[in-house]
Amino acid sequence: MGEYGELGDVQGKRVLVRSDLNVPLDGPAGERVITDDGRVRASVPTIKTLAAAGARVVVTAHLGRPQGAPDPAYSLAPVAARLGELLGQDVAFATDTVGESATATVAGLEDGQVAVLENVRFNEGETSKDDAVRGSFADQLAQLADAFVSDGFGVVHRKQASVYDVALRLPAAMGGLVSAEIDVLRRLTHDPERPYVVVLGGSKVSDKLGVIDNLLGQADRLLIGGGMVFTFLAAQGHEVGKSLLEDDQLETCREYLGRAQESGVEIVLPTDIVVDTAFPSDDREPEPRVVAADAIPSDALGLDIGPESAERFAEAIADARTVFWNGPMGVFESAAFAAGTSAVAEALTKVDGLSVVGGGDSAAAVRQLGFDEAAFGHISTGGGASLEYLEGKELPGIAVLQR
Ligand code: 3PG
Repeated sequence: MGEYGELGDVQGKRVLVRSDLNVPLDGPAGERVITDDGRVRASVPTIKTLAAAGARVVVTAHLGRPQGAPDPAYSLAPVAARLGELLGQDVAFATDTVGESATATVAGLEDGQVAVLENVRFNEGETSKDDAVRGSFADQLAQLADAFVSDGFGVVHRKQASVYDVALRLPAAMGGLVSAEIDVLRRLTHDPERPYVVVLGGSKVSDKLGVIDNLLGQADRLLIGGGMVFTFLAAQGHEVGKSLLEDDQLETCREYLGRAQESGVEIVLPTDIVVDTAFPSDDREPEPRVVAADAIPSDALGLDIGPESAERFAEAIADARTVFWNGPMGVFESAAFAAGTSAVAEALTKVDGLSVVGGGDSAAAVRQLGFDEAAFGHISTGGGASLEYLEGKELPGIAVLQR
């Protein structure tokens, strides 16, 4: 059974698999369409391996952030259907998490069959901060199975019932996806081949503080783009117009710029920016303009790094032997502001060494912009989880398996 060896023979056993099936969906409740099925595809191998070994596979997962009660807008039904297509076999769907439908669906499984339970966050016990409330929900989940496989990498940084507490109640093992993700992250943090370049983007500096803090002691070069760059530009004393700005992080950014200089880490900021007078929307044609990063007009907001910066970023990535990238460089969903993100993705495909796309929006961008996934060393399924790992934090969903 490979990595599930510690569970012994799973033939005929009910195995609860925590997957991360949190995919973007579009359209009204009841007619929702998956816009990026990357996480569903990544979840297939573990489920397939278990089913092929004769397990009765019970998949539990979340979708979005419903408020602890059933909400049709967050139903996993369309995701379960997609999983069935990808597995090439029927997938039963329970319309509740641990209730009558879940019990009956699991009881109806034969060896090698697969069921998906409805969104685990429809139960308030899943995300409760109260250990007892979470624990009693985990007791109910555990009753549905004989063993547990943790395979939802994107959620291992959450101390939640289906990630953490259930692993205390059943024989538990790490799934193939989680173990592959952890192997890659270990390579990034344990003696990475140098130069080690990290590219960070996305909207908020405040989401990336911990990781920047830690990387200042590890990476050789830190390239910063996306909405978070404007707080860095403002920290250098530049006007940023109507661009995203986190005033309360200015001092921290200044401190990071100073520390980078002292420790010999090169922080590369864009020198030009693509701006517009409004955020892209369906009602208005974008009017992109390129301006110098230190001369953003007061009526403009930055929506992508400019062409000169994109070239500089690509050059800074070119000689790297290890690259980690998290967060788009601009509003890539709009073609007018996608060039920076595209240039970074392209540069990663040419790296002679390990290139890692750190989940979430950057993974979606790579697929939406039409890159061949095989051209990257690794595309993570977990944005938040990989950042927390790189921050050096303990991930509860991993720690619980290593007890
Ligand atoms: C993600 O999308 O990053 C994971 O599925 C975790 O989701 P969460 O941030 O809602 O816990």
